Amino acid sequence: MNSKVAGEPTGEIPAAVGPSLSSILPRLLGETSVAVFLAEYWEKRHLYSKAAARGWEGRLFSKAAIEDYLARNDIRYPSVNLVRDGRAIPVDAYARKLRIGKYESFDLIDSARVVSEHQGGATVVLQLMQNSFPEAAEIANALSGYFRCRIDVHAFITPPGSQGLSAHYDTASAFLIQIRGRKRWRLHATEFQVPLEEHAFDVPAGIRKAVIDEVVLEAGDVLYLPRGVPHEGIALDDASTHLTGVLFARTWVDILAHALTVAEKDRRVRSSPAGLSAQPTESPDTSGLISEWEKVCESFRAAARALTPGDIGSTRVVEPSTRLGRYARKGLS
Ligand SMILES: [Fe+2]
Repeated sequence: MNSKVAGEPTGEIPAAVGPSLSSILPRLLGETSVAVFLAEYWEKRHLYSKAAARGWEGRLFSKAAIEDYLARNDIRYPSVNLVRDGRAIPVDAYARKLRIGKYESFDLIDSARVVSEHQGGATVVLQLMQNSFPEAAEIANALSGYFRCRIDVHAFITPPGSQGLSAHYDTASAFLIQIRGRKRWRLHATEFQVPLEEHAFDVPAGIRKAVIDEVVLEAGDVLYLPRGVPHEGIALDDASTHLTGVLFARTWVDILAHALTVAEKDRRVRSSPAGLSAQPTESPDTSGLISEWEKVCESFRAAARALTPGDIGSTRVVEPSTRLGRYARKGLS
């Protein structure tokens, strides 16, 4: 007989977005409170939550659902792509031609060739699952509601003993949710934390040697990975399926950029520095320039200080994490 202990995870994913906004994040964090997570882990260090998503593994992304998705014949690269041993497999190895009238492209996913490559060791990456799988949309919307940013959900299906991506870091933090099989993650040290999108993606060989932790994710386990932490995963004895929920959170750089757009209302900020190009090359008198610069800084500071928490929270347009609900609500006729 099943008996439920009070407070024990139910294994359910919420059925509707609204009530789930406050429940998915605590669930993903396991025994760590949201307050402790934000203070000690957010963008600082990884958090392994044993069995935090227990019960999801049998409900999310069944093999049949994924096979049905791949067999649709209308999926285009890069919604599905393949990687093996750290390298992307050229798309022409698993795509075919799409022709509509005079339009031609060579990016229509050929599911039979995807399966063949997968059997040869390739990891199948399904991107932007929130647009096609209701359960991914549920997770994305719930996290998006909490972090007030776009969330993308990708799935990685890796054959036993194989590795998809080599050691790399991402410029967005992520929650990894193991759905099936086991995957061993090796995390490496870094000297450059919280990289922005424009920062380099390659991980130097020296860093790859500095392993800071190894975590084996089993079905139902969750790993929070801050942006910038180099990582690589290898599937163990069984094929591994895991989800990655990617958080495109605002940074202070985004907020400073927003403050600059406010400061631009001041004519002084929009002006060109007087006589800058006419400065003599030897012993220039820069006192006028510095005085002007100080006034511009003052304008910017005033604009930045005038921002309210509401302004700061809305400095980037929050794109909908999913299009499923929008399309479902609007009929064509
Ligand atoms: Fe990654």
